[in-house]
Formats: sequence, C-alpha cells, structure tokens
Amino acid sequence: MKKALAGLAVAAALGSPTLARAETLTIACGSVGMERDLCKSGAEAWAQKTGNTVTIVSASTDATQELASLQQLLASGTADLDVARLDVIWPGIVANYFIDLKQYIPEEVLKEHFQPIVKNNTVNGKLVGMPWFTDAGLLYYRKDLLEKYGQKPPTTWQELAQSAKVVLEGEKKAGNDKLVGFVFQGKSYEGLTCNALEWIDSFGGGTIVDPSGKVTVNNPKAVEAVTFFASLVGNVIPKGVLAYEEEGARGAFQSGNAVFMRNWPYAWALANGKDSPVAGKVAVMALPKGGADGKSTGTLGGWQLGVPKTSKNPKLAADLVKYLTSTEEQKRRAVVGSFNPTIVSLYKDPELLKANPFFGSLYDTFINAVPRPTIAGAKYNQVSTEFRNAVYATLNGSGKAEANLSKAETKIKALSKGGKW
Ligand code: GLC
Repeated sequence: MKKALAGLAVAAALGSPTLARAETLTIACGSVGMERDLCKSGAEAWAQKTGNTVTIVSASTDATQELASLQQLLASGTADLDVARLDVIWPGIVANYFIDLKQYIPEEVLKEHFQPIVKNNTVNGKLVGMPWFTDAGLLYYRKDLLEKYGQKPPTTWQELAQSAKVVLEGEKKAGNDKLVGFVFQGKSYEGLTCNALEWIDSFGGGTIVDPSGKVTVNNPKAVEAVTFFASLVGNVIPKGVLAYEEEGARGAFQSGNAVFMRNWPYAWALANGKDSPVAGKVAVMALPKGGADGKSTGTLGGWQLGVPKTSKNPKLAADLVKYLTSTEEQKRRAVVGSFNPTIVSLYKDPELLKANPFFGSLYDTFINAVPRPTIAGAKYNQVSTEFRNAVYATLNGSGKAEANLSKAETKIKALSKGGKW
C-alpha cells in the first residue's frame, strides 16, 4: 500500500499522462551520424519523465533497406514496435499500417510545423506521422583549399568540376595524392535518387514524374545532366563514390580527403566537431546550378515518427512521439546535431542559429527544397528504383544516359497507367 501510494506520488510529480503501471515501449532509431545517440537520449529522457522504459532498435543506415525491413515487419502483423521512423517519401507507401495521430496531437501543436510536411504526412485525412526533422541536399566545401588556389565557391556544377580539377592538380604537385574532388551518395539506393534528382532538376530536366503525374524522366536536359556527371567519374569523382552512402561521403570529406561533398545538414555538426580534422575549414552553401540558365535544387528529405497499429500501447506511444517532436526536443537536436527542425519558429532561435548559421542563410533552400515524385503513392519506391538504376548504370559505364533513361521511362510509364497513379 505504502509502495503504491509512493508510486502515485511520483507519477503525479512527474506529470505522467496515466497512473498506469510502467510500460516498456520499443522505438526504432536511425543510425546515420549522431542519429542513434540523439534519438536514444531523447527517448530515455521521456522514459524518465513518465516512469516508463524504452527499448531502442537500430535501423539500417540505408533508407531503401530500412523501408524493406519495416514493410516486412509490418506485413507480418506481429510488429513489436511502438514508434517507427518514416522517411518523407513513405507515408503513401505504409499509411495503412499506422494509427491516425490526430486523436492524440492537438491542432495547435500541428500548426507550429511546416504545413507542407504535415500535408505530406496526411494520407486520406489520416495523420500517419508527426514531423521530426526536415532535410535538404547541400554543398559542403573546403574554404581553405579554394582560397589557396584562388577559386570561388562554385555557382554551377561545371564550375565545381573546374575548381576541383585546379585544386587536385595543385595538391598533387605538392605531394597530396589522397585528395579527391567531389563525393556524394553514389551507391544504388534512395540516396542516389536524391542526388540524381538534384542534378536533373538543376539542369532544367524536371523531377522524374511531374506534379500532374506525367512521366518526364527522359528528356534532353536530364540526359545532359546524367551524361555530365558520368563524365566526371574517374577524375573529379573517384569510382569509390559509387559505393558511398551518407557516412561514406562524410568519412572522406571529414578526414580531409575531399574538396567538395554533397550531404544533408547533419554533416555540419560532425564536420565541425572537436575531433574533426576539418573543423573550421568547412563552408556550406546551396547546391550549384546546372549551367548558367539552370537552377539550384536541393532534394527535400526528412523523417517523421508514427505509431504502428500493432502497438499495444498506442496512447503512450503517441505521447513519446509528441515529446520527441516537441519544440524543446527539436531544439536540442538542432543545437547538438544540426538536424533541421520542422517547427517554423525555431528558425528564429538565437542559440540554434549560432550553432547552425546556415539554418538562417539557407532558409530559402530549405523551404524551396524539391520533393521527390510522391504522386506515385504506394509505387514511389518502384519509380525511384527504376530511376536510380538508370543513373547508376550510366555512372558505372554501362550504357549511355539516353538509352538508360529511355528504359527507365518505359518501366515507369508501365507503372503509371497512363499518368493516373
Ligand atoms: C536522408 C533524408 C531522406 C532520404 C535519405 C536518402 O535520410 O532525410 O529523406 O531518403 O537521406 O539516403
């Protein structure tokens, strides 16, 4: 009796949502960079506050593999998972397996977030995931090396290739033959889809499928873009990049061995971390344009948190989601790990801007980031696979861009039923 009363008192003092006995919730955390640590510390802070326990499961570092594992788990009907992470492109694919969070998240809270993300996460009126962080592709470069060789930050991809060549030649003469020009996510997985979408859109070659549902992947500008990047493989782009995910690219850049890197915002905090060999030598900017009449494009990425229908504690799981996506927690993740908040007001927070000045200077890049063609709904992943297979083959020297994109076009058109997805 005494113990039970003490328990009640503790629950009341900690503001626990229920007076029920302590529960154990399982949450999937990402594994790229600081993701796991930040997700774990956030979930544990909630557990402590509410008197519950959390078990962490680690997701794959490869977003395509993570989707496959999640789909398998959800389809088994026995998922022992209370909180799942959802990539921004997944709501249309996995919506049926998730509860509607609207019953637990007040309207005022939802209003604080970027509305296009809330809309993206709402499928047939159901809120499948709460926005957790947003992403856009960015260009990182070595300020010191560009200055040393009198190069300006590149405004076009062509300039980037030129500058990289100048720096590489100079450094080679000085005995540095480890340095490479440009690293990015070149492995055949969702990361390559994000990079190649940036290339083709920046050349004016569209977004694979246009917002009306029409398949546009095969056009002269897209061919030009992919051909251009393929021509850099083996010189500015080392062949090893064709096996890189996010962390492979960051590893090369952060160890001081790359002039330019395309990556997401998370790389900023790590590249400038205490133990980073390039701390203080790195700058970040919007991605280059595809030529003077091209445009600067960053692919929209980002992650949400949702509760699978198989959770035995949906109400408590939704409380954990609410906590992890709150202003306080998004701020902590931004300051420590440079994860972009989805809460609009945080972009004016001085502490956050001090840690990440580019959250302010590149604000337009974030809000204008280009979405992947999720008009394909449940078939998005198949569309993405066909597109990146064509790009990967071309980069890898197997066939020309024109023929490869034409094959992808035929396959994507077959999926689309004449543009009606
Ligand atoms: C990042 C993005 C995500 C994207 C993935 C690809 O995690 O946030 O949207 O699909 O990278 O590797």
